[in-house]
Amino acid sequence: MNSLYIQGRNRLEGTIAVHGAKNSALPVLVASVITDGECVFHNCPDLSDVRATLNILSWLGCSNQKENGTVVVDSSAVMKNEIPDLLMRELRSSFIFMGALLSRTGRAVMCAPGGCEIGVRPVDIHLLAFEKMGACVIREEGRIICEAPKGLHGAEINLSFPSVGATENIMLAAATAKGTTYIKNAAREPEIVDLANFLKLCGASVFGAGESTIVINGKDKLHGAEFTIMEDRIVAASYLAAAAVTGSAILVKNAVSEHISSVISVFEQAGCVFQCEKNAIRIKAPYRLNSMKTVRTMPYPGFPTDCQAIVMAMAIVAEGTTIINENIFESRFRHAGELNRMGADITVTGTSAIVNGKSRLFGANVSATDLRGGMALVLAALSAEGDTKINSAQYIDRGYEKIERDLALIGAKIRRDKIGKPQSEAG
Ligand code: EPZ
Repeated sequence: MNSLYIQGRNRLEGTIAVHGAKNSALPVLVASVITDGECVFHNCPDLSDVRATLNILSWLGCSNQKENGTVVVDSSAVMKNEIPDLLMRELRSSFIFMGALLSRTGRAVMCAPGGCEIGVRPVDIHLLAFEKMGACVIREEGRIICEAPKGLHGAEINLSFPSVGATENIMLAAATAKGTTYIKNAAREPEIVDLANFLKLCGASVFGAGESTIVINGKDKLHGAEFTIMEDRIVAASYLAAAAVTGSAILVKNAVSEHISSVISVFEQAGCVFQCEKNAIRIKAPYRLNSMKTVRTMPYPGFPTDCQAIVMAMAIVAEGTTIINENIFESRFRHAGELNRMGADITVTGTSAIVNGKSRLFGANVSATDLRGGMALVLAALSAEGDTKINSAQYIDRGYEKIERDLALIGAKIRRDKIGKPQSEAG
């Protein structure tokens, strides 16, 4: 059983460093499939989702090794273009291998990614784009077969929603398609810009990443490159929230404030004061947070859905009521029930949550329901009175590298093994 034990109400202090971004590492590692040589990635985070991606690369014939934060991938010989369910099931976002394999081999077969804890996660936008680029898409027995025997061609693609994954998948497919591809209503997240920067180092022709129209002129082939992955902006926001819920002042290193400006403004509404340096953010939190009134998750540069659970963990101890509208995923409030077990007062109706802030939370025996919901439980435990046991901590390990090591460095009482028997732990 993978559990975290946390003693709450400890003031935090000092400096904490953010690791490389999971949501950039995954697409750039997949993009190495399109190159015909060796790629070197620095600042690659040590996460279970990254290990799952490396397993799929190995299966496809892209040998790889990881040494501390550096990963070397050799894609000179990609031997397969079918990914077994077992590997696909380890990581639902591995659907972006579809675009890379179509680019490299003209064929890709994998199971439909299926839903996850936060929603159904359809891939209709991805598949529609591949068909517009000349692929034949067949769905049979729970798997998706995409074939483009004559190769893909450029197309003008209007996304019905600025999907991050679909934008990435299309960029990978378009990188070696014949002609020019226009992606309109593209996702604008910083991770999209990171992927474009890597592709350009490999010889791709990409313009407009980070804007709502991306133009890609297909190339015959791409070569290997050396690349440093951007910092994880959601981890940075999570560490800032740890200070916010404990009334602390800390410095978060390897954090780019421009990447989370919408988050910072919500934290400022809660009473936090910031000093943003070149690659670091200093936060000073008030003794008790104010309500954040209404928080709406939106595509970038709006407030990120990945910070919704984190800001809920702040709202439950704030003075007053906060309303949170989740506009990206249809079932991303599963952490609310677990937070209520700690004394929070959250009412969920559809895609809105009404949070009445409480002055005290109590440690409890809770379970993580998904990656960011699990982080919300960590934050609540840091501010609660008494001990908290968080079960299913493997969800948290998907996106946070050694969370107990990092938070302990700034004074949190957190370990993976027992620290005395928490009174709240039943049985
Ligand atoms: C990426 O997921 C991130 N994952 C998610 O982070 C993040 O929450 C999400 O983008 C939104 O920012 C990775 O980058 C690995 P989407 P993705 O396609 O690409 C609908 C985390 O915690 N949609 O932008 O799957 C979809 O159902 C994870 O790190 C379609 O309807 O997100 C959702 O409602 C969680 N059809 C919305 O778009 C499609 O074909 C946004 O999804 C594709 C998406």
